[in-house]
Amino acid sequence: MNQPPHITPLIPAESLQARVRYLGRLITESYPEASRRNPLHLVVVLKGAFRFAADLMAFIERPYRIQFVTASSYGTAASSSGRVSLRHTMQVHGRHLIIIEDIIDTGLTMQRLTEECLQLGAASVRLCTLLDKPARRRHPIAITWKGFTVPDHFLVGYGLDYNEEYRDLPWIGTLTP
Ligand code: IMP
Ligand code: MG
Repeated sequence: MNQPPHITPLIPAESLQARVRYLGRLITESYPEASRRNPLHLVVVLKGAFRFAADLMAFIERPYRIQFVTASSYGTAASSSGRVSLRHTMQVHGRHLIIIEDIIDTGLTMQRLTEECLQLGAASVRLCTLLDKPARRRHPIAITWKGFTVPDHFLVGYGLDYNEEYRDLPWIGTLTP
């Protein structure tokens, strides 16, 4: 029988908003020298990070440019297969990048994306992730700005999906099938 999955709230909308505002302030304070001629270069990982990124940008009080990369891992919705495909038209040569991601799990996606950016000539890559799920990390990842450390559960909401569903929730919850 096809029973709808149950979602247990984990991070309320107010906590997300407060933390995102704080991260925006940290990033702002990290780049006092930024200007129109020397803007920040944000790289948003689609689709999961779009909502976090949009909210975060409202609190980054420096000039910035944005680019997008679509990352998908082959396999079923709740567990990645260990292979990542990246699709993008990024121009990163010589630029100091800030990658904006929704969640880091095994670390494979971020490892692949960081490698790709450096191969394309990025001057440096820093990472801002809303969620960090360290329990299943297989590739060490240096995170510069982090929203929340979360337990080893499958999470949905605030941009994160299960089979494209639940991105619309303003809060984050744990999915129990
Ligand atoms: P990683 O490559 O194992 O670090 O997985 C990172 C990607 O898997 C994220 O960008 C998400 O798109 C997806 N992912 C990992 N954990 C979750 C989760 O709990 N909920 C929704 N998506 C997840
Ligand atoms: Mg993602």
